[in-house]
Amino acid sequence: MSTRTVLITGATAGIGLECAAQIAPGAHLVLVGRSEAKLAAAADRVRAHGAAGVHTLTADFAELDSVRALAAAVLDRGDPIDVLVNNAGAVFAARTETVDGYEATFAVNHLAPYLLTETLEPLLLASAPARVVITASTGHYRGDLDFDDLQYQRGGYSIMKAYARSKLANVIYARSLAEELAGAGVTVNAVHPGMVATDIWDGAPRLARPLLALVKRFRMISPEEGGHRLCTLATDPALAETTGRYFEDGAVVEPSAVARDLQVARRLRRVSDELVAPRH
Ligand SMILES: NC(=O)c1ccc[n+]([C@@H]2O[C@H](COP(=O)([O-])OP(=O)(O)OC[C@H]3O[C@@H](n4cnc5c(N)ncnc54)[C@H](OP(=O)(O)O)[C@@H]3O)[C@@H](O)[C@H]2O)c1
Repeated sequence: MSTRTVLITGATAGIGLECAAQIAPGAHLVLVGRSEAKLAAAADRVRAHGAAGVHTLTADFAELDSVRALAAAVLDRGDPIDVLVNNAGAVFAARTETVDGYEATFAVNHLAPYLLTETLEPLLLASAPARVVITASTGHYRGDLDFDDLQYQRGGYSIMKAYARSKLANVIYARSLAEELAGAGVTVNAVHPGMVATDIWDGAPRLARPLLALVKRFRMISPEEGGHRLCTLATDPALAETTGRYFEDGAVVEPSAVARDLQVARRLRRVSDELVAPRH
């Protein structure tokens, strides 16, 4: 895979940026972010790491039209995508709605990468052998999917509950897509990168920040280490045939029972299709 093309979302910071830098030598990289300035800095960084080519695309994952435009831009380029790394993610201390009227954690962490991946599926199939890697989280074990109130409109929102729900959706989608694409030369895996000292923790409620600062300093792994776990899933030849798996700390582990429930997966796919469908 020496001239592989790798598209990475959330490539402007943290795990995604480190993953991009590690994949860079000899690779064509498509870096996706929401800030032109941060994308330019990320592009400089991966060029310095020996990328054969770098292309940047902006998209705000809190806006489905922006994700549609991103997918269209990727398809317009017409180049194959050997690896799609769905890594962009965020947390929201208080319940927030996107311009589409969806709870922001679910929208940014699940609906946006869902729409992107579904739209790019024909390109991924044409690019086979190809891989999709989804940055999930061990937080998914605490997640539930209340289909009657996916968006916390009836209350009960908390940053951790919403995050866990979105990351559960990531694991479910990875498994479901892997099953759909079995035998087609496109693998799909989800990964918990570890507890990584990145900016995502800055989104935690103010009261939790002093404790988090300590945990970050003494307990979390570095963005380089977290990025390496992502990079391994994206490039390790030993994983060329591995699909439908959930990885933690570099090993395959069983995801939660709800993540393995086929009925739940079918329902999530149906509901996600409805939620990302254009309204105009
Ligand atoms: N850190 C951990 O311990 C940990 C553990 C498990 C899973 N994860 C997952 O790892 C992934 C990367 O997180 P990180 O820890 O590296 O955090 P990070 O440093 O905050 O990076 C998050 C990335 O996502 C991008 N992003 C956020 N909101 C976006 C939006 N609305 N539209 C487009 N891009 C957006 C950010 O762009 P900007 O640069 O513009 O902010 C950034 O590039 C996430 O999916 C997260 O859930 C992290």
